[in-house]
Amino acid sequence: MKTRTLLDGFNIEQFQLDLIGWFEKEQRDLPWRKDNDPYKVWVSEVMLQQTKVDTVIPYFHKFIEQFPTLEALAEADEEEVLKAWEGLGYYSRVRNLHAAVKEVKEQYGGKIPDNPEQFSKLKGVGPYTTGAVLSIAYGIPEPAVDGNVMRVLSRIFLVWEDIAKTGTRKLFEAIIRQIISRENPSYFNQALMELGALICTPRNPACLLCPVQAHCRALQEGVQTELPVKTKKTSVKQVAIAAAVLKDEHGKVLIHKRDSDGLLANLWEFPNCEVAHSRENPERQLEKFLKEEYGAIVQLEKPFAVLEHVFSHLVWNITVYDGKLVNGFTETEQLKLVDEREISLYAFPASHQRIWREYKEKETGG
Ligand code: ADE
Repeated sequence: MKTRTLLDGFNIEQFQLDLIGWFEKEQRDLPWRKDNDPYKVWVSEVMLQQTKVDTVIPYFHKFIEQFPTLEALAEADEEEVLKAWEGLGYYSRVRNLHAAVKEVKEQYGGKIPDNPEQFSKLKGVGPYTTGAVLSIAYGIPEPAVDGNVMRVLSRIFLVWEDIAKTGTRKLFEAIIRQIISRENPSYFNQALMELGALICTPRNPACLLCPVQAHCRALQEGVQTELPVKTKKTSVKQVAIAAAVLKDEHGKVLIHKRDSDGLLANLWEFPNCEVAHSRENPERQLEKFLKEEYGAIVQLEKPFAVLEHVFSHLVWNITVYDGKLVNGFTETEQLKLVDEREISLYAFPASHQRIWREYKEKETGG
């Protein structure tokens, strides 16, 4: 659909006044809104992709305390950076951010470019991040379209296109280029996000409290809860995993660093493998895996925990065994024996942090 047709009869100026006026009064007091430091805005926007505001707040404080400037982050070790992100998930976000700030330090003398072409070429920076950071930090009128903004706009403009399609995001970007406030692009974009978070929510939008209800075509037709249209994801894959907390004769724990690409790249984990349903039982499969892949001879005991961890595209069903490492073991860069008190120095994904918690509870709980 043409943007021109969609905008027929739409009062752009009044919409901007209503939207921004509301945001000035009602915006939440969030830590990344304290100043418009482009580095902090960037960090916050990366954390807020796929993660809720309440979860992000403590991570944001800690991250900025640890890496207060772009230089500090650029100079940090990857291990440290992953550790600061531990539990937030989607770790490629932070690996990309780390690579990108190094690029900014080297190529742009540490100043984050205020030009969309340059900024969007940095690692991990897509159209959403470009629009969000450049509008909030530099006042540049670029659209910042995420899922929340698509929900809000699909209702206001009665867009029935599937928001899972790339073309639909482009349609919303084209609309925003027409209606964004040139005086205050920052507040305009943030107000759309805030409206999506506080009023124009997925299931029960609070239309009676909405500052732009007079502009909303879905409300006029009473179809606000039918929008946006989103095709269902194909069902998530279930993966069975056997994992073990293995100690050697000195009580040291075996941990493994994951590969540098793929899911949870470079994070640490307790030794584990995917198990097939058919063949031998899971313990045997895990023992064989540990021997063949790591040269580790182990003696497994009964499982002490069964955990489920849900990713966006798959589910891990993890059975966790207690066990002993029987052979003398040679450590490598990716396979270490560590003292229990050192475990907390390594970055583990949330599922493996849970394994450790359950293990300690079992030990102390008897
Ligand atoms: N979601 C994404 N970006 C946001 C921001 N800057 N403030 C609040 N919620 C957000």
